[in-house]
Amino acid sequence: MENKKILITGGSRGIGKAIVESFLNEGHEVLTTCRDSSKFPFDNKLLTVHSLDISSKDSIDSFQSAVDAFEPDVLINNAGITKDNLFLRMSDEDWMDVITTNLTGTFRVTKLVAKGMLKRRWGRIINISSISGIMGNPGQTNYSASKAGMDGFTRSLAKELGSRNITVNAVAPGFIATEMTEDILNDELIKKIPLGRAGNVEDIVPLVNFLSSEHSNYITGQTLVVDGGLFMK
Ligand SMILES: NC(=O)c1ccc[n+]([C@@H]2O[C@H](COP(=O)([O-])OP(=O)(O)OC[C@H]3O[C@@H](n4cnc5c(N)ncnc54)[C@H](OP(=O)(O)O)[C@@H]3O)[C@@H](O)[C@H]2O)c1
Repeated sequence: MENKKILITGGSRGIGKAIVESFLNEGHEVLTTCRDSSKFPFDNKLLTVHSLDISSKDSIDSFQSAVDAFEPDVLINNAGITKDNLFLRMSDEDWMDVITTNLTGTFRVTKLVAKGMLKRRWGRIINISSISGIMGNPGQTNYSASKAGMDGFTRSLAKELGSRNITVNAVAPGFIATEMTEDILNDELIKKIPLGRAGNVEDIVPLVNFLSSEHSNYITGQTLVVDGGLFMK
């Protein structure tokens, strides 16, 4: 793929970090975020890191000028959180935190890039959702709702932006070994995965690269699952 400018939220760890590294290795310019940029784990001449709290409207608003100056071709909405609990024990606060971070954060960050992409008549928006939003998962009513919301957001936005050559897709990982899943990955769960193992961050990267490139020109509004076969339609 020719050189592109990639904006990805949550590049400090896990899936986001692997995506950042792969774009940098291919020579693309990357703007990424985490809550405290001074703690970002590595440096690269093609990389800019910005502090951003996607649960805060003020923080996102103050990121607008940096996004405008960067002019991203590709946005990857990756930053996200879980706050799991069984439904009867789930507090209003844990519900709101997850919805505000994962779903409203995606809406607000996408607003930062949409106008510029419309003007330039080209863009790729990739939302990292989850199979939890498709098949459900006990203890994750907040998280599943936020991720199913991202999938619906993806489809509606794809219909709005398609005529300007902007595609919008979601990638729905299954269980990927990162800090997020440290406490929930166990043998019982892995037995249910047809490919017999948890995913690793490198399993997600090629699809994100493909969706960012011209090779995916005619794919939009889709949620593409990468889960070792755990969920099948
Ligand atoms: N791991 C899985 O099995 C799995 C499965 C399905 C979907 N996903 C999705 O994939 C994405 C990445 O997950 P991961 O497993 O890589 O998670 P992770 O290792 O916990 O990393 C999360 C990233 O999001 C950032 N982040 C969290 N809250 C933020 C906030 N309020 N503002 C800004 N940045 C914030 C973190 O940055 P800080 O340095 O600031 O903490 C970090 O870079 C998430 O959207 C997750 O829901 C993961």
